[in-house]
Amino acid sequence: MAIQLYVVFTLVAASIHDCDGVLRFASYYRDHMVLQKSPERAVVWGYGPEGEQVKFTLSGQNLQSISQATVTNGIWRVSLDPVEAGGPYNVTAGVQNSTAVLTDVLFGDVWLCGGQSNMFLNLYQIFNASEELKRAAHYPHVRTFMASLVQSETEQTDFIHVQIPWSVPPAYLAGFSAVCWLFGRDLYEKLQYPIGLVESCWGGTTVEAWSSPRALQQCGLLQQPDDGPKVNSVSWNAMIHPLLNMTIKGAIWYQGEDNTIYHQEMYNCSFPAMIDDWRMAFHQGSGGQTALDFPFGFVQLSTSKKNSTSDAFPNIRWHQTADIGFVPNPRMQKTFMAVAMDLPDEKSPYGPIHPRDKQDVAFRLSLGARAVAYGEHDVPFRGPFPSKILSTTKYLEITYDQEVSVAPSENIFEICCSESQTPCGPKSRWVPAPIMQWGPTTVQLSTTLCSPNEEVAALRYAWRDWPCDFKACPIYSASQILPAPPFIANRPPAKGINEL
Ligand SMILES: *[C@@H]1O[C@H](CO)[C@@H](O)[C@H](O)[C@H]1NC(C)=O
Ligand SMILES: *[C@@H]1O[C@H](CO)[C@@H](O)[C@H](O)[C@H]1NC(C)=O
Ligand SMILES: *[C@@H]1O[C@H](CO)[C@@H](O)[C@H](O)[C@H]1NC(C)=O
Ligand SMILES: *[C@@H]1O[C@H](CO)[C@@H](O)[C@H](O)[C@H]1NC(C)=O
Ligand SMILES: *[C@@H]1O[C@H](CO)[C@@H](O)[C@H](O)[C@H]1NC(C)=O
Ligand SMILES: *[C@@H]1O[C@H](CO)[C@@H](O)[C@H](O)[C@H]1NC(C)=O
Repeated sequence: MAIQLYVVFTLVAASIHDCDGVLRFASYYRDHMVLQKSPERAVVWGYGPEGEQVKFTLSGQNLQSISQATVTNGIWRVSLDPVEAGGPYNVTAGVQNSTAVLTDVLFGDVWLCGGQSNMFLNLYQIFNASEELKRAAHYPHVRTFMASLVQSETEQTDFIHVQIPWSVPPAYLAGFSAVCWLFGRDLYEKLQYPIGLVESCWGGTTVEAWSSPRALQQCGLLQQPDDGPKVNSVSWNAMIHPLLNMTIKGAIWYQGEDNTIYHQEMYNCSFPAMIDDWRMAFHQGSGGQTALDFPFGFVQLSTSKKNSTSDAFPNIRWHQTADIGFVPNPRMQKTFMAVAMDLPDEKSPYGPIHPRDKQDVAFRLSLGARAVAYGEHDVPFRGPFPSKILSTTKYLEITYDQEVSVAPSENIFEICCSESQTPCGPKSRWVPAPIMQWGPTTVQLSTTLCSPNEEVAALRYAWRDWPCDFKACPIYSASQILPAPPFIANRPPAKGINEL
């Protein structure tokens, strides 16, 4: 399930930032980059001769600002004054006998793009690749940077290698994450100011790899010394930790496939814990500039095997929401989710687990960002979710939290038939609950496939790896843009027949 196109580097020890006393910026501060705009301050750091004063000049059309920092343990660090969106600027760092310059620097919003192979899938691999690459040239203010694929057993201060240096599209874009690019482009369409995209992801990785020991400890996932090859924290150490000192606006994430076969039942803990930990760590690393609750968007797993009866994908989809079914929710605040289970791609040359429609995924993410990260009111970003489920002897009636667009289905809803008053369990059975009729916000399901001596103990929707054909799930928002996410609902223990 992993796409691994690059050589694997395993770090033995920190190397490029051994203090040689030469004045320079850290690996990810380069020409053409985007620094975080106001109200936050962009943090910039690098290396220099021990003990010297470094003087910084930010120069652009109408602005010249100056700040200073001292080199301590070979490293200097400065928080620039807040700068409004725009550019270009030059950032010059100078000591007595040398200078280092970043040219063509823009200020805008910086988004980090993480995860595994579906985030890694590049713009050259998706549907309409050549059109998308051509179109990209019209977005010179959306800039891209990609970290190298590296693992480490210790936390790194800086990147050892950079896969793609900060670039102006279409330079190097074919090898850049499609979801990340399309998300940034869609945001730019709305915001009309620079967007910086930092890709740091790797195919075939688990959430444990991207989590710090602190986060893993929250879920009891710390490895023992004799547990075999180290999985925990190796990507966090080498591909996330170096970035903590940069000010960012938010992050998007597409991962979970590998956790369908690794600590699947813990993902409802490990994923929210990782988000919390990243937020805390980026906030601290930037000296408080990156928000402690920065917006975090993610893609709910798409599909992998047609006709599969495994629960693994539905379980991870559910766990991605901390078992609530939608986000944001009290456990996962300031998050947003793109549902993708209705975008299967049986013929993908990269395997069906890597669907090539990344445009819809990115667009749905951008709607979530607009609502959650940018506070835009009235932008629909969540598909319909049940607000009430009524049970009678013959049917169930679901009331959704918004108007729905419905197509008939015999089996996308399933009910758990269980002996009187017992919860859905090993002795119960799941049977289809055909859609009988529907209204503007309601759907009625037949429960006649349970026998008369059984009760409906639970209800679930789209609880399959591959629940529908392309954009053909039965329930969408009224606008038909947003699919209803999957859910599972149990009858509360004491409630009898009335309400699930
Ligand atoms: C930045 O530096 C370059 C090269 O030295 C120069 O051509 C350009 O005019 C400078 N731009 C600004 C905004 O100062
Ligand atoms: C600049 O000064 C530092 C010490 O202040 C010294 O280590 C370095 O060699 C000097 N570099 C050049 C190019 O003169
Ligand atoms: C997480 O899911 C597992 C099994 O899938 C369940 O047993 C557990 O109660 C859930 N934990 C939380 C915190 O929701
Ligand atoms: C980055 O932030 C971390 C956490 O605050 C800090 O320990 C580290 O020294 C910082 N690194 C640099 C290069 O400023
Ligand atoms: C899935 O099932 C359908 C209908 O039974 C069948 O035609 C199709 O070949 C199956 N596809 C796969 C990938 O197994
Ligand atoms: C690809 O382009 C065609 C023609 O413009 C369009 O109809 C289709 O929706 C595009 N596909 C994706 C996934 O964006």
